[in-house]
Amino acid sequence: MDAGVVAALRRAQRVTVLTGAGVSAESGVPTFRDAQTGLWANFKPEQLATPGAFRQDPKLVWEWYAWRREKLHTVEPNPGHKALVALARRYPEFTLITQNVDGLHQRAGSKRVIELHGNITRTKCFDENIVVPEWTETGEVPPRCPQCRGHLRPDVVWFGEELPDEAINEATRASGACDVFLSIGTSSVVYPAARLSEVALRSGATVVEINSDETPLTRNATFSLRGASGMVLPELLRAVGFA
Ligand code: OAD
Repeated sequence: MDAGVVAALRRAQRVTVLTGAGVSAESGVPTFRDAQTGLWANFKPEQLATPGAFRQDPKLVWEWYAWRREKLHTVEPNPGHKALVALARRYPEFTLITQNVDGLHQRAGSKRVIELHGNITRTKCFDENIVVPEWTETGEVPPRCPQCRGHLRPDVVWFGEELPDEAINEATRASGACDVFLSIGTSSVVYPAARLSEVALRSGATVVEINSDETPLTRNATFSLRGASGMVLPELLRAVGFA
């Protein structure tokens, strides 16, 4: 394990973490750009995860998310998710930001998770843009909002949509006020999430990338550890003396 990373984590008081689909990959959740499998093989996510796609074929988009939600019942948080729960306990200030919409960080035990792109286990009204916790199933797909009878949709950020203000503002604040910023399992190509590591670098934080492959962040990061997060994170905790 890189001694520089260990030293930085040992002297840090404030740690901010950004995770991407790579952290859930070892739980069996396909990364966002993995080939879609089975029924959805002939659709690209960009064709389904947009307001236009939903307006054009709300049933198709709802069923794609229902399929993804269904898959979540078959997966568990992996050692990478659990290592982040253990890491959080070691710092007075620890912020976990995720681009993932699978809720696995919460299921692993992470308390405060900033969900930049929403969560597919939550549903909202397409027209009123408010979360709808329950509705009457009539068999209609998508189901209707009990308030306005409009269509319900997953509470996730689609291509072309704004991120929730509070989430991106809090994520930016935490990225600019940390001693160590960990970027884990993300291709670092989708903005504004990909800007958070730049905010951290500009503020003088030690930026550590943990990723299977090189990304645009690799050359600017203070350290870049190549490997699977489910292996590297537990090893890092042991090296720092936290496990
Ligand atoms: P990507 O699929 O773009 O990138 C996943 C990254 O994780 C890649 O760089 C892989 O090399 C790496 N990776 C895969 N398995 C890994 C493992 N076991 N351990 C460590 N790294 C691993 O997913 P994201 O970067 O999360 O946005 O994608 C960002 C956003 O793009 C998504 O949130 C989604 C998509 O558009 C919205 O839906 C708005």
